[in-house]
Amino acid sequence: MIDLKVEYNNALEAISKKDIFDFQEEINNHYNSLRSKTGKGNEFLGWVELPDEVDDELITRIERLATEIRNKSKIFVVIGIGGSYLGARAVIEALSNSFSQLETDGNPVIVYAGQNISEDYMTELLEVLEKNDYSLTVISKSGTTTEPAVAFRILKSHLENKYGKEEAKSRIIAITDKERGALKQLADEEGYESFIVPDDVGGRYSVLTPVGLLPIAVAGFNIRELLDGAIKMKTHIESSPLIKDNPVWTYAAARNALYNAGKTIEITVNYEPKLYYFTEWWKQLYGESEGKENKGIFPAGVGFTTDLHSMGQYIQDGLRNIFETVISVEKPNNELKVPMDDKNLDGLNYIAGKPLHKVNHMAETGTTLAHVDGGVPNLRIVIPNISENTIGQLIYFYEMGCAVSGYILGVNPFDQPGVEAYKKNMFALLGKSGFEKETDAINRRLSN
Ligand code: PA5
Repeated sequence: MIDLKVEYNNALEAISKKDIFDFQEEINNHYNSLRSKTGKGNEFLGWVELPDEVDDELITRIERLATEIRNKSKIFVVIGIGGSYLGARAVIEALSNSFSQLETDGNPVIVYAGQNISEDYMTELLEVLEKNDYSLTVISKSGTTTEPAVAFRILKSHLENKYGKEEAKSRIIAITDKERGALKQLADEEGYESFIVPDDVGGRYSVLTPVGLLPIAVAGFNIRELLDGAIKMKTHIESSPLIKDNPVWTYAAARNALYNAGKTIEITVNYEPKLYYFTEWWKQLYGESEGKENKGIFPAGVGFTTDLHSMGQYIQDGLRNIFETVISVEKPNNELKVPMDDKNLDGLNYIAGKPLHKVNHMAETGTTLAHVDGGVPNLRIVIPNISENTIGQLIYFYEMGCAVSGYILGVNPFDQPGVEAYKKNMFALLGKSGFEKETDAINRRLSN
């Protein structure tokens, strides 16, 4: 049984129930073509059956390796970018103590590299790694992405200088394509422990492969529970064809009805700072999947109540082309009450004795009503708590919602042709061979 529900009552000033339920037939057709692999991008549909297909042998191997890494590393570096890093980070940050970087709770500190090309970031990371035992995983499906390749070159050299070549090898795990790419060749030649990213699973749908599972296990979380959550959602979808019974269909239908009504920006809202990177993962999943052919909902994210003191003004009063989707967590994992204060100089005794979560929840309800009054329709995704299982449910919920939404929009949700444009210019500017024509063209543009 799934624990997740979707509410759309606060969107009904902008769209009607009919607008939502009119998507029924279309959604069923798109789901059938995802299952039968007859739609656009059908070579990248491995994620659909994935939660059921991760076998015990693979999970056990990941768990065993995670234990080895945990035993010898104070820090674990995850090298990757886009879909090769955001899923792991989203899950790890959602499940970790908010101050885990300062805690010595036995878990290695997880840090990230290869998701930018900043010299300061890399230098500062090396300074920390110099002082602490560490291991790393380099994750790149293509094995040729510049950012992680540069970071890996630097860290491999550091690791070898620090531990010697043999010991360094035992601290490197490569996660890459089965056959293609420079990383695969390097892993084979050096004899690194490695995992495969299945051919038919694209980067942003890969969190439930070793791409996400290994870092999540090293961080100390239960990947079996995570997969179980995804399986629950998958099973529910399979047995619930009707929009009214299926939160994924409700979400996909409502957000597309809102898009048709001119709401071209979806802001995912959380009231739990731990979900910041979950929103970042969602932004990549939906942005890269839908933003094509001059179409698509623009995915944005805010964390409330923090951003009520920055973006709140725009959301309440700015251009009316936005809608919000709140990920609402019913129950925190801890309890903390606002204390009574005899002097009451801050005037807060009216909430004394109340759990902080209750105050947060009232902020959510009050904000939703204010934004709805201001012309911002609101969808609400409710989960009972933040756990491996509910996060697993959310992952599959969003993946399937994204695929169906992409098909409703008429685009291929599994490619990302637009990502190549910046790479071509960067290679030309850096003087990579094969890009001479582009270099000339750019130089002409820059000298004008
Ligand atoms: O979703 C995607 O496919 C992309 O975001 C990729 O994950 C990202 O570009 C990294 O690619 P790679 O894993 O090949 O290094």
